[in-house]
Amino acid sequence: MEILVLGSGAGGGFPQWNCNCPNCSGYRNGTLNITARTQSSIAISSNGEDWLLFNTSPDLLQQISQNPEMQPRAKGLRDTPIKAILYIDSQIDHTTGLLMLREGCPHLVYSTEMAYQDLTTGFPIFELLKSWNGGINHRTLGVDGEAFEIPELPGLRLRVWDVDGKAPPYSPHRHDQHRGDNIAVQIEDIKSGGKLFYAPGLNSVNDKVLDIMKTSDCLMVDGTFWTNDEMHALGLGDKMASDMGHLPQSGKNGMMEMLAPLEKQRKILIHINNSNPILNEDSPQRAELKSANIEVAYDGMKVTL
Ligand code: MLT
Ligand code: MN
Ligand code: ZN
Repeated sequence: MEILVLGSGAGGGFPQWNCNCPNCSGYRNGTLNITARTQSSIAISSNGEDWLLFNTSPDLLQQISQNPEMQPRAKGLRDTPIKAILYIDSQIDHTTGLLMLREGCPHLVYSTEMAYQDLTTGFPIFELLKSWNGGINHRTLGVDGEAFEIPELPGLRLRVWDVDGKAPPYSPHRHDQHRGDNIAVQIEDIKSGGKLFYAPGLNSVNDKVLDIMKTSDCLMVDGTFWTNDEMHALGLGDKMASDMGHLPQSGKNGMMEMLAPLEKQRKILIHINNSNPILNEDSPQRAELKSANIEVAYDGMKVTL
């Protein structure tokens, strides 16, 4: 299967429109070795023609225009290779772009029951899209790791688990975690046997998650923050990474430590916040990742499994 990183940034993207942190200002004035990133999305295909879209980023139209794989084929007046959409959660940076796909409704959409509730009440994009050709055809994701296939995307097998994370700030469960607020997905190419583990939001790596990672060939995991107090230390806000549902890379039980025993897997950080020093390719933090064999996702990155 082919995995295409459409957006490797976290909420706000990079540079963030209103931010003057060292990374964002360094990008704008050209003093850093650093690349712009759109907000959090990947797409997967087993045949190179039909694609499963993970999340609908606010930057989706830009992502489609930057990636010919996502553009219409010569199949008629209106066409899209996006055959289904799967939501990791109901966060703004993972969902808003669905509104930009209204001309192609109805879309086949997979989400957990918890994300469905958020997206039909607090941020009711599923409801309001009903005025566009019925909006979406929704299928509910279980969170117990049971394998399933999407008939519209033959060749892929998926498994979904609930993970430790946060519902969006607007959700009634922001401070009252429910199973399925956030998920991790393992996508297997039935023919090649290759397996991707995708979890752009992870607040902790428990034994269950570790076991799933061990059975995967490539890990694309939460790369939001380097330190727990990153936002606070830079004067950008009071929230800790853990308050926002993101396990930082450094420190005790941080992502680097959790990934260290996984020697056979290709390890890639994704959903990287604009404040994170790993965005700067010349930073000591980036060098530390490199020596730990951990890559940093970028927009347009392709992985074949
Ligand atoms: C997150 O991943 O924590 C959110 O996307 C933050 C946000 O609302 O932008
Ligand atoms: Mn996010
Ligand atoms: Zn910034």
